[in-house]
Amino acid sequence: MNHFTQFENKSLAEQLIEEALKYKSDPRQHISKGLGKRVGCIFLNPSLRTRASTQIAALNLGMDPIVMNMDKEGWALEMQEGAVMNKGTVEHIKDAAAVLGTYFDVLAIRAFPSLSNKQEDSEDFVFNQFIKYSGVPVISLESAIRHPLQSLADMITIQENIIAGHKPKVVLTWAPHIKAIPHAVANSFAEWAIGCGHDLTITHPEGYDLDPKFTKGSKIEYNQQKALTDADFVYVKNWSAFDDYGKIHCTDTSWMLTEKHFKNAKNAKVMHCLPVRRNVELSDEILNGSRSLVQKQAENRIYAAQAVLSKIIE
Ligand code: CP
Repeated sequence: MNHFTQFENKSLAEQLIEEALKYKSDPRQHISKGLGKRVGCIFLNPSLRTRASTQIAALNLGMDPIVMNMDKEGWALEMQEGAVMNKGTVEHIKDAAAVLGTYFDVLAIRAFPSLSNKQEDSEDFVFNQFIKYSGVPVISLESAIRHPLQSLADMITIQENIIAGHKPKVVLTWAPHIKAIPHAVANSFAEWAIGCGHDLTITHPEGYDLDPKFTKGSKIEYNQQKALTDADFVYVKNWSAFDDYGKIHCTDTSWMLTEKHFKNAKNAKVMHCLPVRRNVELSDEILNGSRSLVQKQAENRIYAAQAVLSKIIE
């Protein structure tokens, strides 16, 4: 595995899930594996879970993680080829990424989308500049269009909570939000759930269809109540419109899940990647109750990152 940026194939996903569960049972079993190796965790955007879990994962393997908050502590980066840098940007990505490539054995990058330039975001332009110029393996800590470490943790969580012999119905539901939110978590969840062979239904208001390249193989249902019927796992996430790129079209609060939504899915478990806006995206009663898997997902972020780092440094 050269880089970890997306779902590759079912066999690799299954290997990573199995490896992650082994690490969960004994996190420091390979404490010498990464000795002498450094991972640079480069954040162009805020984070709680990704920042902490990736560092813990690296430490569990004996690696040295170094975190840089490039958005606040680094030089303002220029991304455009041939730019005349006589305005706000101080350092070109090709110089910065090349330097980072000499300092680290592995780079891990968080680079959110602009939500204004659809083409650049869809090509994962900023994230791919790090791959292009660093010359070392790169792990996605969430790019403009994908969040694969989150999705791997989500697949681990589903596997841990599956009832043996029953093929679960998995539902990804849009939820309200006050801000325009990227598509990365929803895209990646769909990509991984479909790739891992889950029966996935996606429900959202009209106008919120995700990029079809991520949802091919799922069922799309605009009626949330119908979609939730007989669900086993319900993944809750807001995203902004993709067609009318980055815009908010719907503020209908009835899309926020409460206990009432589960009258036809009595045993359904609820998932969310966090951070969550309580009583906007999801009700307190759900988040505080026995349906919620959100803390287990967050814990599994450590072992997802550890399985990926371990494979990358092999
Ligand atoms: N779920 C997730 O990626 O959380 P952070 O943004 O806090 O890292």
